[in-house]
Amino acid sequence: MAHKVTIASLGRTIDVGDNDTILEAALAEDINYPFGCHSGTCGSCKSKLLSGEVRYLDYSRFALTEEERAQGWILACSAVPIGDCEVSFEAPAESESHPLRKIECRVTAVASATHDIKYVTLEPCDGRPLEFSAGQFVNLGFGTLPGRDYSMANRPDEPHLVFHIRLTAGGVASGYVHRELKPGDIVALRGPYGTSFLRKSHPGPVIALAGGSGLAPIKSIVETALRNGFGNPLFLYFGVRDERDLYLEAHFQALAAAHRNLTFVPVLSQPSAPTARRTGFLADAVARDFGTLAGWTSYLAGPPVMVESCKTALQRLQVAPGDCHADAFYTEADRPAAKPAFP
Ligand SMILES: Cc1cc2nc3c(=O)[nH]c(=O)nc-3n(C[C@H](O)[C@H](O)[C@H](O)COP(=O)(O)OP(=O)(O)OC[C@H]3O[C@@H](n4cnc5c(N)ncnc54)[C@H](O)[C@@H]3O)c2cc1C
Ligand code: FES
Repeated sequence: MAHKVTIASLGRTIDVGDNDTILEAALAEDINYPFGCHSGTCGSCKSKLLSGEVRYLDYSRFALTEEERAQGWILACSAVPIGDCEVSFEAPAESESHPLRKIECRVTAVASATHDIKYVTLEPCDGRPLEFSAGQFVNLGFGTLPGRDYSMANRPDEPHLVFHIRLTAGGVASGYVHRELKPGDIVALRGPYGTSFLRKSHPGPVIALAGGSGLAPIKSIVETALRNGFGNPLFLYFGVRDERDLYLEAHFQALAAAHRNLTFVPVLSQPSAPTARRTGFLADAVARDFGTLAGWTSYLAGPPVMVESCKTALQRLQVAPGDCHADAFYTEADRPAAKPAFP
C-alpha cells in the first residue's frame, strides 16, 4: 500500500510504496530532493519529519546522530514511511538550483585516462547545454542497465560533458563503459544533482582532495574557481595507489604554473617502486602539511574510505563542518537495501 508523503519545502505530495524510501520515491517523481550517497552515509538528504512515522534502514551515526533523530530529523534515503507523513528538507546555505532534466546524450569520445579509468565525453542530443554547478553529478543510463551516478569533470561553461569512469570489479555500468561504450552511442542522463558544489560566497583559502576518479568533480571545482578569478591559496591533493593510477598530472602542473595561487600535490599510497613523490594516505599528508585549516573551505571526492578519513583529518584541523563539502563515490554494495534494516 502506498502512503502519502508531503514534501513541505516544495508543497508537493507523492505516493511512497510500502518498501520504498522517501528519497527514491521523490527521485522517481523527478523531484529535485538533495542527496549524495543513497546509502545513509553522507547526510545530504537530512530532512525534518514534521508529522507521521517512518521505519529506518541502516545508516551511519555520522550522517544522523541520535540527538538529531530524537529531535525529529531523518535521512530521506533511509526512511520508509509506515503511514502518511510530512517532511521538509533544508537547502544548502548557498543553494543553486538548476532545472532537473531527463535527456538523451550522444557519446562523442571514449578514451583511456589510466589502466582502469575512461574519459567519456557526451553532448546533449537536443543541443541544449546542461546547466549545473561545478562539483555536481548526474545519473547516467547505458543501454538497458540501471542508472549510476557520475560527476562532471568539465567546467559548467564548457560545451561537452566529460566524465572519468573507473572500472569497479564486478561492476555492471562501469564494466559496460570499459568494454562496450563507443562514440555515437546514446546515453540517458538525469540531473544535475548534488550539494557538494563550488561555493562562490566563501572568501577564504580552499583545499581540494581527490582520490582516483574523484578527480572529476574536483577538477571542475578547481578550474571553475580559477576561471572565476579566485585568487586565494588553492591546494589540490590527488591521491592514487601507484604511478600508473596518476592522470592529468601535466595538465594540473601547467595550471599551477599559470596560477601562482594553485598548488598541486600528487600522493601515492602504495608505490610499487622507490619514488621521489609524496607517499602515504591523503589524510596523513594533509595533517603533516598544515597546523590548522580554520577558515578554509574544503572539497572532497573519491572512494568512501578516503573521503571519511580525510573528513576526520579536516575536522581535526578545524575546518568547520559547514565548510566541508564531500561526495563519496558509494556503489550499490553500500546501499541500505543491500544491508539489514534495524528498528
Ligand atoms: C554522488 C556520486 C558520484 C559518483 N561519481 C563517480 C565518478 O565521477 N566516477 C566514477 O568512476 N564513479 C563515480 N561514482 C560511483 C558510480 O556511481 C558507480 O557506483 C560505480 O561506477 C560502480 O557502478 P557499477 O554499475 O559499475 O557497479 P555495480 O554493479 O553497482 O557494483 C558495484 C559493487 O557493488 C556490488 N553489488 C552490486 N549490487 C549489489 C547488491 N544488490 N548488494 C550488494 N552488493 C552489490 C558489486 O559486486 C560491485 O562490487 C559516483 C557515486 C556517487 C554516489
Ligand atoms: S545520507 Fe541520504 S543521500 Fe547520503
